Amino acid sequence: MMKVYLETMGCQMNRLDSELVASALRAAGMELTDDAKAADVLLYNTCSVRAHAEDKVHSRLGWACQRKAGGKRLIVGVLGCMAQRLGDELVRRHRGVDIVCGPGQLARVGEMIAAAGEGAPQVALDPSRRETLADDDVMERLDGGRDPAVTHLPGQAYVRIMRGCNKFCAYCVVPLVRGPERSRSDDAIAEEVRRLVDAGVTQVTLLGQTVNSYRYEANGRSVGLADLLMQLDSIAGLRRLRFVTSYPADFDTAILEAMRNLPSVCEYLHIPAQSGSDAVLRAMGRRYSRREYDELIDRARETVPGIAIAGDFIVGFPGETDEDFAASADLVRRSRYKNSFVFKYSPRPDTTADKRLADSVPDEVKRRRNNELLAVQEEVSLAANRAMIGQRVEVLVEGASPRAHRQGGSAPAGEVQLLGRTRTDHIAVFDGPEPLAGQYVQIEITDATGLTLIARQV
Ligand code: SAH
Ligand code: SF4
Ligand code: F3S
Repeated sequence: MMKVYLETMGCQMNRLDSELVASALRAAGMELTDDAKAADVLLYNTCSVRAHAEDKVHSRLGWACQRKAGGKRLIVGVLGCMAQRLGDELVRRHRGVDIVCGPGQLARVGEMIAAAGEGAPQVALDPSRRETLADDDVMERLDGGRDPAVTHLPGQAYVRIMRGCNKFCAYCVVPLVRGPERSRSDDAIAEEVRRLVDAGVTQVTLLGQTVNSYRYEANGRSVGLADLLMQLDSIAGLRRLRFVTSYPADFDTAILEAMRNLPSVCEYLHIPAQSGSDAVLRAMGRRYSRREYDELIDRARETVPGIAIAGDFIVGFPGETDEDFAASADLVRRSRYKNSFVFKYSPRPDTTADKRLADSVPDEVKRRRNNELLAVQEEVSLAANRAMIGQRVEVLVEGASPRAHRQGGSAPAGEVQLLGRTRTDHIAVFDGPEPLAGQYVQIEITDATGLTLIARQV
């Protein structure tokens, strides 16, 4: 049996793609392995969003091609966003790469592996943004044909509701590698969720780059995200429904009302601001002002009691001054994010920021601002988490905690430290038996750090 090693970089969209590829390969009679050295096929599902993510892939490919040059029989494939961005260039740079497959062509990976080694490397890229729509059948094959038994965590699944992005933020490569924004049919999504729930899934996370702009139009019907949430909420057995990532402009209040009113829709919003400064937002091509963002956060907190909000920030965008940065720090305090992802600006080829603006902020300044913003976030998170001590909440158990959070002592016999998430996406750890993974458990919060709630089962 052919052994395949599949490594995934990048966002949840990529993680879902890898699951779908893995289940298609298994169905085709291949075996997945975690051991790259024991594999016959090495696949890298790649990300282009920052230079660092691409550097990692180049070093993996260097290693793989060197082994091949040393006589090892291996098939080497590059999948996803970086495959799409670099295409043939990957084959020229790394002699030994057999497969280059864009994110919209992943349904073809099985065929490509079967044909590998016969002649020239195979390169399957997505068509240009303009021509993409005709190719959506290939893409639908991947999502529609998924094995509902294969998910990223017990009882949890990602479901794609849109592809691509039309926002073209000045720094961002995603619209260039993932094509135009397209929404999947609500019926296809509901069918996929039903099959997952039948297979034991109770938490579904809907994925899109700008998920609140979901809109599917057919036969005179027009379905937005709030309508879709309502439709999915009625599926018996689905206990938790989330959606990521939201874009802060044109945010329909009906989505917040769905979050407040529908039992399955979790009180959690991931809505990146990227910066707290109007000058930087404008330079980034984000289509909202600081005031509009503040108003949206206020509207979310007023409409949905107990909502948790998460953000993303880029520090060191070209021209970002100390005052601009101070505005981002102020936004973290004002928004009271549950957590923030902070990234140092990384110029990406062919984006408008890279073409028009010099990468003017020195790396040590980026690093300092990155650390400072994380420190502000830590302060905000710690205060909010400490205020939760004493509360009883329900978590969905993911499994054993990868890191132990305790001062001395160890779990009672037969138990491990488990990690679970609340509806608001807070991480909690507590002792319990390992088979609880995928189950819902009531806990009482006894202590807290900035990142983690410490709890005991009740
Ligand atoms: N569609 C999502 C995010 C996609 S990329 C959204 O619009 O929010 C995930 C995160 O990577 C972004 O939110 C941004 O913070 C960061 N990012 C994107 N391009 C970047 C770049 N060139 N340099 C540094 N961070 C970047
Ligand atoms: Fe990138 Fe902006 Fe689209 Fe998000 S909305 S994927 S940051 S272009
Ligand atoms: Fe995701 Fe990276 Fe592609 S963030 S969409 S895997 S460029």
